[in-house]
Amino acid sequence: MDLHLSDEHRMIRDMARDFAQKEIAPIAARYDESGEFPYETIMKMGAQGFMGIEVPEEYGGVGMDTLAYVLALEEISKVDASHGVIMSVCNSLYCYGILHYGTEEQKQKYLRPVASGEVIGAYALTEPQSGSDAANIRVTALLSPDGSHYVINGTKSWITSGPVAKYILLFAQTDPEAKPRYRGVSALIIDTDEPGFSRGKTEPKLGIRASATCEIHFEDYKCPVERRLGKEGEGFKIAMAVLDAGRIGIAAQALGIAEAAYEAAREYAREREAFGKKIGQFQMIQQKLADMKTRIEASRLLIYKAALAKEAAKETGKRYTLESCMAKTFASETAMWVTTQAIQIHGGMGYSKELPIERYFRDAKVTEIYEGTSEIQRMVIARLETGLR
Ligand code: CAA
Repeated sequence: MDLHLSDEHRMIRDMARDFAQKEIAPIAARYDESGEFPYETIMKMGAQGFMGIEVPEEYGGVGMDTLAYVLALEEISKVDASHGVIMSVCNSLYCYGILHYGTEEQKQKYLRPVASGEVIGAYALTEPQSGSDAANIRVTALLSPDGSHYVINGTKSWITSGPVAKYILLFAQTDPEAKPRYRGVSALIIDTDEPGFSRGKTEPKLGIRASATCEIHFEDYKCPVERRLGKEGEGFKIAMAVLDAGRIGIAAQALGIAEAAYEAAREYAREREAFGKKIGQFQMIQQKLADMKTRIEASRLLIYKAALAKEAAKETGKRYTLESCMAKTFASETAMWVTTQAIQIHGGMGYSKELPIERYFRDAKVTEIYEGTSEIQRMVIARLETGLR
């Protein structure tokens, strides 16, 4: 694996780092506290191209590769994981889906505005009864008698950026009788300004509090057939393939959180004294720091490997599900473990809202849950490795 970063890669990483330090760092704690959506900084990120990093310029993006995306997302998440997840969903769930499965017309109309950062995109797969068992979809999209549109009814839950999204990539049953059920699922592009669409309450969350999450409801919402992505019945496979891309993003988000917590802990260990010594001179703290650093670097390697596998897939068409699931599992569990150790190293100060350590800890947890829990990632990895189900 070639880990040499090109000038272009270093440039996007430094740009994201500067932006995060200047624009996000001063507001992150305040928005975490209030749970308000950071609209202004998200719009600024969009204007700088951070919402469509891998989207070609002809569709409003900046036309870079997956490694560039991962590097930028890591830097943003290192300062604030809420900005990180909003960026991740726009790039790798919404834009990736439309870019890879959309027609030319769909790309011009529904990819360009999100990739160029004018509006926000979201992805709607989960329902109240179907989280891990994603194929158990009950939202219906039934073709009208004249075949011009689908009539959509039902509820999706836990929609990241749902309260603010203009467009949503929705997965619904166009053939509720299909066996197995996933063969009846189709992907549709939703314009949230149209009648029949409404939003439920915003979820009060433990972490990533500045990112907005809600239920969305459809009541006889009419979606023109021209807004179907791919063929009827292909939706579940599109949803899964898009998650292969998305999980690399969440892994990069987790890496950013872990790095922030580690660096804070390392600095604290250098300064804080106990029993007449710097606490970093005690072996028990040294062991923690050494293991934190090692796990972070191991996560980075898995993430970069997954990013390169995704890049190679553009030529070969080969799935990179295994690389993506391994990167997400390891990086998210590393983030949870590293943030826990960071609190321990800080002692009482780690538990206080005076420092961002407790925010990193709260933000890390969701990376083990969304875009497929660690249990689901392991199930997919084991199925791919053994060929057994
Ligand atoms: N790419 C392409 N096709 C795929 C695929 C992939 N990665 N994974 C599966 N498929 C295909 C299979 O080949 C199969 O098709 P065939 O029968 O033609 O071969 C079909 O899809 C069904 O696959 P499975 O039999 O494996 O399906 P399953 O019902 O056993 O479930 C699962 C698979 C992996 C458990 C899936 O349900 C899953 O990933 N669950 C987790 C859901 C999830 O991650 N949700 C995240 C919500 S979005 C989110 O969280 C965003 C956010 O807020 C930030």
